[in-house]
Amino acid sequence: MMIKLVLLLCTAVFGVLGAPGLTEAPTPCCTASQWEGVMLEVGGYAAQSHAGFLKGSIAVSYDMLGKRVATVSHLNYSAGAQSNMKVIQDFKGGMQYVIMNTTCTKSALKGAMPPNCMPDDAKFGGGFYFGSPSSQLPCQRWLYTYNGTTFDLTVTQQDCIPVIETEYSGTDAETECRGKNIGSVFEE
Ligand SMILES: *[C@@H]1O[C@H](CO)[C@@H](O)[C@H](O)[C@H]1NC(C)=O
Ligand SMILES: *[C@@H]1O[C@H](CO)[C@@H](O)[C@H](O)[C@H]1NC(C)=O
Ligand SMILES: *[C@@H]1O[C@H](CO)[C@@H](O)[C@H](O)[C@H]1NC(C)=O
Repeated sequence: MMIKLVLLLCTAVFGVLGAPGLTEAPTPCCTASQWEGVMLEVGGYAAQSHAGFLKGSIAVSYDMLGKRVATVSHLNYSAGAQSNMKVIQDFKGGMQYVIMNTTCTKSALKGAMPPNCMPDDAKFGGGFYFGSPSSQLPCQRWLYTYNGTTFDLTVTQQDCIPVIETEYSGTDAETECRGKNIGSVFEE
């Protein structure tokens, strides 16, 4: 599933950007500290007893300054289940709220807020553009690992806005990969 997504998106890539006068690789960048966007998501998972894939959309509101993230997701699973839920994560208060149908479940929130910057050791994977020569969206590809998950992230050259992300994580018990096509990003 994942590989299909990546190949599909690659057909939209028109050419590799030349790097006239570029003498050193660009440095890893930070997305805006406050943004909202819609991610189209395709994912697959495999556990000891079952495997499957999911697809759907997730609307994200990200606020690094207020230390909170809210998502509204509509996901369909290959097994037939559907999940529509809203998750509010308050990293300052250490609480998470999951709202499904009319039920709200509150729980303690562990872990750190996902950073809006790539790690300093992110590896530059090259520059290219989407579109045609006369209408280009110059992008950069970055590869890194954060907390056990491998990321392959494409961002716009200007403003570091995520365009495509694939994530892969695996433990002995479970592997999971996800692809996101971040449709529209509205900065603060
Ligand atoms: C999820 O399933 C519902 C009901 O079958 C359908 O209306 C919707 O379009 C599906 N969404 C996706 C992303 O496939
Ligand atoms: C939410 O509602 C849908 C039908 O509207 C139902 O199929 C589903 O089981 C409900 N989920 C929960 C967690 O109550
Ligand atoms: C790292 O991942 C583990 C397992 O997914 C999670 O429990 C933990 O909170 C994460 N740590 C951070 C800093 O996000």
